[in-house]
Amino acid sequence: MEDHIRYDPEQGVLFLLDQRLLPAREEFYACRSTDDVIYAIREMVVRGAPALGAVGAFACVLAAREARNGKNREAELDAMLGAIAKARPTAVNLSWAVSRMRGVWRDRRDITLDGLIRVWEAESELIRREDIEANRRIGAFGAALVNDGETVLTHCNAGALATAGFGTALGVVYAAFGQGKDIRVIAGETRPLLQGARLTAYELHREGVPVAIVCDNAYALLMQRGMVQKVITGADRIAANGDTANKIGTYGAALLARAHGIPFYVAAPLSTVDLETSDGAGICIEERPESEVTCIAGTRISPAGVPAYNFAFDVTPAELIHGIITDAGVLRPPYADSLKRALSREGQRKPPCR
Ligand code: MRU
Repeated sequence: MEDHIRYDPEQGVLFLLDQRLLPAREEFYACRSTDDVIYAIREMVVRGAPALGAVGAFACVLAAREARNGKNREAELDAMLGAIAKARPTAVNLSWAVSRMRGVWRDRRDITLDGLIRVWEAESELIRREDIEANRRIGAFGAALVNDGETVLTHCNAGALATAGFGTALGVVYAAFGQGKDIRVIAGETRPLLQGARLTAYELHREGVPVAIVCDNAYALLMQRGMVQKVITGADRIAANGDTANKIGTYGAALLARAHGIPFYVAAPLSTVDLETSDGAGICIEERPESEVTCIAGTRISPAGVPAYNFAFDVTPAELIHGIITDAGVLRPPYADSLKRALSREGQRKPPCR
């Protein structure tokens, strides 16, 4: 699946498959302005760290188109870029993409706004393509870790929908399945917004990969019964020491995996690594509306007046992570060294940032 994030340069519209409606309805949400994209990000029309990176880049293009009508074009564009980068705080890919777009602008300060729009359209498309390619590499590296006959437990959705295409954790599954391995997936439902039950199950089922869903609180029993051989999740931000933020509940899954001697892997592109954050304590954990916890499908399930905590992410300490499957290979502890080395090799491989 690679068509769920589509930009139409003629109309200047970004079309996003509305993930809030899946699996019941496949409808596209049309973003015509920066505010539309910020709304789509905040309300989870689109979600998943690498997908937010690609969408953030296209949002910059819409911002530049809007700035053409402004009085103080540069300042207005600058403010819109700042707002895009902050639409959700935990996934680093969003601010990473906006910084990359800013870099392109900085290097061509004399460019007209129309020129910048064309350059940014190309850059956004490049970010989208690069993410798909990175995920295919993650898949190839990760598939070697999954053996024939194994069951993989995953949490949330780190599939094609959470990226520009193919997926990270699910990219590993797709690649192993594509090699003819008999593998199965158990998808944790992932309360409160059910990305596992709705999205992971939807895309794996569509691709013919055997998948079953479980409540998040079933993980311990599954492991105790020997029903899981690998745990693979995605990541929203990987700190310099390897501490990894991902969907709330990931830390619990990693602790359980350790207690049962099951390898716990994180799959993520290098664009998810944030060397400026030294460890997990420095990662901002998004807190979302209480209503996501107190209501299901619009119906209140808890007594009115009882508050709820709704932390969207947690941080898995590096020592619980068996390996980080990246587009540059499988990194092993100590992550402070392996992450730095992988990123500096990546910097050498890529052409200097225009
Ligand atoms: O709140 P979400 O749905 O954006 O959270 C998504 C996750 O936690 C994913 O596991 C992560 O972004 C990795 S996606 C390849």
